[in-house]
Amino acid sequence: MRRPIALVGFMGAGKTTVGKALARELDRRFVDLDAEVSRRTNLSVPAIFDERGERAFRKIEADALAEVVADLDTVIGCGGGVVTTAGGRRALSKALVVYLAMDESALVSRLAKTRGRPLLEGLEGDALAARVHKLLAKRRPLYAQVADIAVDAARPTAEVVKRINREMLALGYDDRDRARS
Ligand code: S3P
Repeated sequence: MRRPIALVGFMGAGKTTVGKALARELDRRFVDLDAEVSRRTNLSVPAIFDERGERAFRKIEADALAEVVADLDTVIGCGGGVVTTAGGRRALSKALVVYLAMDESALVSRLAKTRGRPLLEGLEGDALAARVHKLLAKRRPLYAQVADIAVDAARPTAEVVKRINREMLALGYDDRDRARS
């Protein structure tokens, strides 16, 4: 059995870091969905939100994902909000979906140190924590709904990758099949 692997989870959960490490481990191509959306529009993610709005971003994101999942040999690092639209979830159904789960407080402290995310722009302290809380409350059930595998993303990257590998094998996905064929 072979499917593209899509990593989902909240902003800051480490989808890009884990995705790159997993792709290396499995000898797959890593695709960052935000970068793919930027490439297609020639705009940064904040510029798309700014100039075209979130709804337009979601449509481009879901369309890009629908195309990217056609390549079975990929690991796709999705944007945290891809699960919020029916189109995004439909595209995800073509992939083996790995949910990188993390505590709310850990996410808030990670996100406090980063920038460039339109939905969190200009927020710090309690305001940041409140926004994360609100978004997570809506999204957690959606991450759980689309996930084939859920892992604790607070663990070190190598351990997270190992855990994903183990869970994939348990579900009958063995990338070594490809190496042999
Ligand atoms: C978003 C997450 C971002 C990016 C955009 C919207 C979200 O990606 O797609 O800023 O709604 O959670 P990361 O999860 O990689 O930060």
